Amino acid sequence: MTNLITLPGLVDVHTHLRVPGGEHKEDFASGTAAALAGGITTVLAMPNTSPPLTQPAVLAETLEKAQRSIFCDVGLFAGASPESIANLVELSPSTVALKIYLNDTFGPLRVEDLPTLNKCFRLWPRSKVIAMHAEGQSVAVGIGLAAAYQRPVHFCHISRKEEIELIAAAKAQRLPVTCEVTPHHLFLTQDDAEQLGPLGDMRPRLAAAEDVAALWAHIHSTVDCIATDHAPHTLEEKQSDTPPPGVAGLETSLPLMLTAVKEERLTLDRLIKMMATNPRQIFKLPIQPDTHIEVDLDDEYTITNEMMHSKCGWTPFAGRQVVGRVQRVVLRGQEVYSQGQVTAEPGSGKVLIV
Ligand code: NCD
Ligand code: ZN
Repeated sequence: MTNLITLPGLVDVHTHLRVPGGEHKEDFASGTAAALAGGITTVLAMPNTSPPLTQPAVLAETLEKAQRSIFCDVGLFAGASPESIANLVELSPSTVALKIYLNDTFGPLRVEDLPTLNKCFRLWPRSKVIAMHAEGQSVAVGIGLAAAYQRPVHFCHISRKEEIELIAAAKAQRLPVTCEVTPHHLFLTQDDAEQLGPLGDMRPRLAAAEDVAALWAHIHSTVDCIATDHAPHTLEEKQSDTPPPGVAGLETSLPLMLTAVKEERLTLDRLIKMMATNPRQIFKLPIQPDTHIEVDLDDEYTITNEMMHSKCGWTPFAGRQVVGRVQRVVLRGQEVYSQGQVTAEPGSGKVLIV
């Protein structure tokens, strides 16, 4: 039995494609193949690469590499750092948004001083979004900046009760803030982190059941986007003495969310809003004409490490029962993925400039 439904091509606004410098973890080809396998036809790639996307020359070279190898559409984030703040204006035309890291995570990109934050808000073009990695009270800093400069701020991977409640309060005051939540923060807790060890470690860390419940309580209201924070690291790196934080997510996001729809934890309409409509609107991404994905809702299966297209080859969701398998992806009228295989030509995706 099959029960095929057609959905719009999904958008993931938080993906680490690891180019340049981390190609042993992921590259443009493997990462965009994983995206298609997950029903995602647009990804926004993060700038915490090595070197980071804070220099115009690095950005130009990375864009060229992307254009040669991507299977779906890709937009790049520019990165903010105190040393390279003067580059922001030059970086802006070929990137979709600015990413500011206020808290510790993988890679050296960090902004921890108010003068640099002020400069980011003054220099970055008003037409483009500023996205923030902000945890705990840093969320209040971001809301303050959105209010003071009267411009949109998008909060990445919100994971705690007090954070989602603060964002709800800011929205109630009509402040221009939006937020994303990851599937791992919706489906895993601190208890799973204990079981998974380094394979369950990411930033923000997995939270308490109470935090997870708060995210679900806001799923039809405050949560604008589901974003994967696809952050692949090899098993060898994860099992080393200094495991980097981060887990893959492109291929498991849709089946996890469709399973939640089946369990009536959210509606299919809301899923489409959070995984396609809102991300496109918030980041002002162009529509992809003649683009859709076909998903078999009757396909019930167990997630395995072996089914991953991502180079890292593992997922913290291995062993989990889900429903909904992406059968086929059509991008601009061309079939680009079918029955587990990428059928697109390398470079057939577009680099997005907004
Ligand atoms: C990300 C990575 O590995 O690049 N890791 C993570 O734990 N989420 C960085 C990030 O998005 O914070
Ligand atoms: Zn990330």
